[in-house]
Amino acid sequence: MSSLEGIAREVRRCRRCRLGYIRKNAVPGAGPSRAKMFFVGEAPGRDEDTSGRPFVGQSGKILTAILKSARVRREDAFITSVNKCRPPGNRRPRADEVATCRPYLMRQIDLVRPRVIVALGLHSLYALTTFRGSMSKARKYQFVYHGIPLIATYHPAAVLYNRPVRATIRKDIALAAQIARTTKPREGGIDPVPGIPFRKRVSSGGVPWDGGSKFLLIRRMDEGLWGIPKGGVEEGETLEQTALRELKEEAGLKGKTVCPIKRIRYRFYESESEMNFDKTVCYFLVRVRRGKVKLERGFEDYRWCTYEEACRILHYTNDRSVMRAARMAVRRLS
Ligand code: URA
Repeated sequence: MSSLEGIAREVRRCRRCRLGYIRKNAVPGAGPSRAKMFFVGEAPGRDEDTSGRPFVGQSGKILTAILKSARVRREDAFITSVNKCRPPGNRRPRADEVATCRPYLMRQIDLVRPRVIVALGLHSLYALTTFRGSMSKARKYQFVYHGIPLIATYHPAAVLYNRPVRATIRKDIALAAQIARTTKPREGGIDPVPGIPFRKRVSSGGVPWDGGSKFLLIRRMDEGLWGIPKGGVEEGETLEQTALRELKEEAGLKGKTVCPIKRIRYRFYESESEMNFDKTVCYFLVRVRRGKVKLERGFEDYRWCTYEEACRILHYTNDRSVMRAARMAVRRLS
């Protein structure tokens, strides 16, 4: 799966619809890769087209002020639009322009996996749901996009024509912020989409253990998340062989599998391939000698840590449960 920066590069090169030929700058969106709140507008305007940044013009100033009054830090949110290029004269994006651009948005949501999405305006709501109706009706519902709560509110530009709408948007954004605060982090991507068949995937990984009290974690560059070396089982490989090969490739270390420690199964939807996946990951405790770690491209850091440190920096609950299993296996051995 690509990274947010990879998607942004594709968007900047994109010529899949007419807007790609007349824009000054494409506007892929901006924000942290682990943002809890994800805002979706309609399409860039003149100022965004000039700067390549989302919501920096008049609507952007209104949005920034509303975020502030709802106690949401703009820099903590991911902000983008359905269409990434400016339609001439700020006309509405056409159906074919939405259809060609929407996959970029879906992939961005997949990668960020926010806790809540805020659809700013009907255009954005229509692009992400099957709802067709007025905004006053939409505000009565809480939508779900691929398992992620979605709150609909007016586009900030509406405030220019109708000032009282500002308070409504503020209220909706405050509700979304509360959802973001109270929703648990999501595991393993987006919930499966009904009606799509499942493709099976098997991966294997090893928790590298130094024979004492330390385990090795590595950090991915694209997501900035700490994890355990693992990868897909290739044809003809045993699960142990995969775990050891991944450790060698990702961290440059040789090891010996000690014992299997955990098997995790989860199901998710990947919008890039438009497929549901049924994935099983098998984990082993792997004894390694603490030699020189040589990280594969795509990884930026490594750390030898105790069980407690590992649980503090691991993002996913699943990974923490694997560490618990590793610690239990080590205790049984001693
Ligand atoms: N309006 C939008 O919908 N998106 C932008 O990026 C700017 C204004």
